[in-house]
Amino acid sequence: MNTKIITLNEKELKEEQFTEAAAILQAGGLVAFPTETVYGLGGDGLREDAARKIYAAKGRPSDNPLIIHIADTKRLAVLTKEVPEAAKKLAEAFWPGPLTMIFEKATVVPKGTTGGLDTVAIRMPEHAIARKLIQVSGVDIAAPSANASGRPSPTLAKHVIEDLDGKIDMIIDGGAVGIGLESTIVDMTGEIPTILRPGFITKEMLQAVVGEVKIDPAILEKPSADLKPKAPGMKYKHYAPKADLHIYEGDLQKVVSKIKELTKKNLEAGKRVGIIATEETRHLYLEGNIKVIGSRAAEETIAHSMFAVLREFDEEEMDIIYSESFTSDKLGAAIMNRMLKASGYQIENLGD
Ligand code: TXA
Ligand code: MG
Repeated sequence: MNTKIITLNEKELKEEQFTEAAAILQAGGLVAFPTETVYGLGGDGLREDAARKIYAAKGRPSDNPLIIHIADTKRLAVLTKEVPEAAKKLAEAFWPGPLTMIFEKATVVPKGTTGGLDTVAIRMPEHAIARKLIQVSGVDIAAPSANASGRPSPTLAKHVIEDLDGKIDMIIDGGAVGIGLESTIVDMTGEIPTILRPGFITKEMLQAVVGEVKIDPAILEKPSADLKPKAPGMKYKHYAPKADLHIYEGDLQKVVSKIKELTKKNLEAGKRVGIIATEETRHLYLEGNIKVIGSRAAEETIAHSMFAVLREFDEEEMDIIYSESFTSDKLGAAIMNRMLKASGYQIENLGD
């Protein structure tokens, strides 16, 4: 398949720029597009055949459900059985934006889209290109992240091209995404809203609107038989770089010393070693392929670069990557959730 690539500027959008992409979606085809979180791979969320194409293009297991993207809250009444009061409040507070909510699904939503579940994930994205694509096409767009299954999520069109060129109809290049981490997912089907995937919208932000909020205990630990994440996708090894990634946490000076020692040893053994450092620690490392992931003083910069840094290390064919850890009050949970998965849960605490 020939993948058409078009470039749009989110600040100067015209309806006619979306005619072709809209026609592709209406015909059951696939269009990748930017959102404020990561690039998405869109298809018609109400068509089984479109969902099948999405799974095939990504190489994704079909029990891993898709998120439906809407541009108008009126669609909630069509796509869900009921909208709890708390969900209305969260939609009011955070949509459009990086929040996905899980509802009981209406029968129009095929199980092909929901991975066989009776629930459906819905999000209203904020990115102007995503909104316009939904509006012009009139399609409820099912869109997982536009990466090949198991690779880091795409934050640039270049990443989508690497993974999906030749497998989908169109890619809309809208430049770099803003946030760089996938949306926060909150299950609204139980008594108390429960976070199934941490993201830019934190537990505290949700609590300020709806009171008590729980976190699925499986999201910061290695999933096991007794600890299965509620979001099916969270159980897969994800975001994995090709190199062996190890994370060190604890006192930052101890972390830096440990990484330096291991780097030296592995370089001597002829290995290619990558280091994930921060603005604050960059100058402390002397050898290895050192990349700055962002600043500890502005954790959104870490979220923004994380997936791109992991992809760069893949391109540069590292054997081993050592990373500092990034625990913090706000985005720490979301960042570490991805880093832990990328490392296959290889983390060591060096103490305070
Ligand atoms: O920011 C985002 O959410 C991006 C952009 C493109 O919107 N999309 C995204 O989709 O990250 P994806 O497919 O890569 O991740 C969706 C996650 C998976 O872990 C999936 O298991 C979970 O959402 N999910 C979807 N529907 C669900 C449901 N009904 N119940 C529980 N988890 C669900
Ligand atoms: Mg994904």
